[in-house]
Amino acid sequence: MKNITAILGAMPEEVSKIVEHMNVLKEHKWNNFTIYEGTFEQVNVIVAKSGVGKVMASLFTQYIIDKFPINRIIFTGLAGALAENLNIGDIIVAKDLVQHDMDVTNLGFQIGQIPYTDIRFVKTDNDLFETAIKYKGNSHQVVCGRILTGDTFVTHEQQLLLKSRFQELKGDAVEMEGAAVALVAQINNVPCIVIRTISDKADGSALMNFNEFLPIASENSYKIVSHILTSPCKN
Ligand code: ADE
Repeated sequence: MKNITAILGAMPEEVSKIVEHMNVLKEHKWNNFTIYEGTFEQVNVIVAKSGVGKVMASLFTQYIIDKFPINRIIFTGLAGALAENLNIGDIIVAKDLVQHDMDVTNLGFQIGQIPYTDIRFVKTDNDLFETAIKYKGNSHQVVCGRILTGDTFVTHEQQLLLKSRFQELKGDAVEMEGAAVALVAQINNVPCIVIRTISDKADGSALMNFNEFLPIASENSYKIVSHILTSPCKN
């Protein structure tokens, strides 16, 4: 297959409904990863879970770019809200993303900056962004914003500890893979968008909300990805 759109999520639930509705032509296995290749909304796709966190997400994104002719990446799933105006069920389309746990400030670098590079905020693809933001959620808002990524599930304690860097980075939502995927995609010149449903407010109830919300993530990811694939989009 040529011109493949990669649809990725960290957890199986985040992509399961897409797998259910796609036409699977081939199943690839690599270590513990399963990659479903086929068509969805008449577009060539591969759909897979990357696993949780920046290492798994980076490793897997580079692997699929090397193995398949990927022409764009859609990463979807859940996020915790940091911005006051975001509520559970809302959808955030990332304008840019940054690693909030990249902290080499002791050596004079900025929070989020990869040392000895200019890489800090990683922008998503403009055409994919413009297409995604036109999605109409049923009773929830669809907003654009900045996503912070780090290898921490943020609950009340981490919010308190990390509050000042979250404010400095002006993050709207927090999750554990987006900035890594967006950076690997950018380095490989592959257009990428990250879209997340807010499952929690990164506070004391975050874990409970997250687990309750996982099945809804599946439904939302399915609808948003379907919207993107059926819309006119240059990429
Ligand atoms: N994904 C969903 N909620 C999250 C949170 N509170 N922290 C990190 N990743 C998340």
